[in-house]
Amino acid sequence: MITPAHRMSAVGPHLFARLNQRKAELRAAGLDVIALDMGSPDLPPSPHIVEALVRCAHRSDRYGYGEFTGSSAVRQAFARFYQHRFGVSVNPESEVLLLLGSKEGIYHLSFAFLDPGDVALVPDPGYPTYAAAARLAGAAVHAMPLARVGESDSWLPDLERIPGDVLARAKLLWLNYPNNPTASVASLAFFEQAVEFCRRHGILLVHDNAYSETGYDGYRAPSVLQVPGAQEVAVEFFSLSKAYNMAGMRVGALVGNAEVVKTVAALKSNVDTGAFAAIEEAAIAALVGDQSWLQERQVIYRQRRDLCLAALRALGCEVASPQATIYLWARLPPGATDSATWCMDTLEATGVSLTPGTAFGQNGEGYFRLALTAPLERLRVAMDRLVAYGQQTDWIANSCVIAG
Ligand SMILES: Cc1ncc(COP(=O)(O)O)c(C=O)c1O
Repeated sequence: MITPAHRMSAVGPHLFARLNQRKAELRAAGLDVIALDMGSPDLPPSPHIVEALVRCAHRSDRYGYGEFTGSSAVRQAFARFYQHRFGVSVNPESEVLLLLGSKEGIYHLSFAFLDPGDVALVPDPGYPTYAAAARLAGAAVHAMPLARVGESDSWLPDLERIPGDVLARAKLLWLNYPNNPTASVASLAFFEQAVEFCRRHGILLVHDNAYSETGYDGYRAPSVLQVPGAQEVAVEFFSLSKAYNMAGMRVGALVGNAEVVKTVAALKSNVDTGAFAAIEEAAIAALVGDQSWLQERQVIYRQRRDLCLAALRALGCEVASPQATIYLWARLPPGATDSATWCMDTLEATGVSLTPGTAFGQNGEGYFRLALTAPLERLRVAMDRLVAYGQQTDWIANSCVIAG
């Protein structure tokens, strides 16, 4: 038997791969599974986006390889979007790189910048790919615990608490706001501090802006590139997956510092060969076309959010009402042992699949994440089942804390 490369010991199968297998087994056994685990949008993109995709797909001359860095038109569309949405000017020729979803970009940026012995500073809890990519690249990972700051619901890292010896080896600092999994947001003032910190310590700041378009009630998340001078030390990932309900199309961009963009592009040109033209056309339609449908989409997410918030609070789970993202980040109900056991027991007993907080790092212990990616009727069924299960297992009787 040929043995896998040593680096494979740094990662196991993704949590969702294992969870999906268990859900498939339960479904095969007849259980009606309601998956509120993975943040995969259930709603389609606006028709004008799909029409752009289909129009292009009908053209027989658009089936060749794409440009390595994305077509000039799609890079210009990202630049126009950054200008309109964030007031940020980026050069589409040198400061935008098309990605097949930001997940591959996260992996490739890590490979382009991390050597064995280097350190990646990653949020804990945080999107697992930051740490997995660093480990696969042979680098070390330093977990920055996220904690609630003051009275706010924002879960932020305390950058000044990172030890000096770690900082001396640190090359990348990952941030992600609006945040997965805590659903909290960060202010531009926090980004200013992060930019200044990275400048002071010679670290590349990488902001993963996957959820900027998912604000509720008029909340508009900032881009890190709005900080004056940020482009000297920072890049940002932007993804159309959650922004425009296009997760399956696999499209996003790396935006910002030209040297970083060039380096990641050089690596990627050895790995993949651009995106399908029809997906680029859909991305252009999404980025520079009508944006008004997003408000209606956010009304749907908000109804889902409010339904689930009320149900979880009735169960005694402490959970903040998020200003953005498609998630709720809730404390386990009183009496639950640990997040992995509780989520698995809940799945087996109710068919409702939630993500344990520890899927995002040790600091996620005591929490679970609920994705608002099912229609209201299904969420109602899911919440009813959780309430019934809670009554059976006495959480409700034990419950006490209800957060605002
Ligand atoms: C914080 C964060 N970054 C990146 C991604 C991956 O996005 P994409 O679909 O663009 O690869 C996700 C997906 O859930 C995410 O939550």
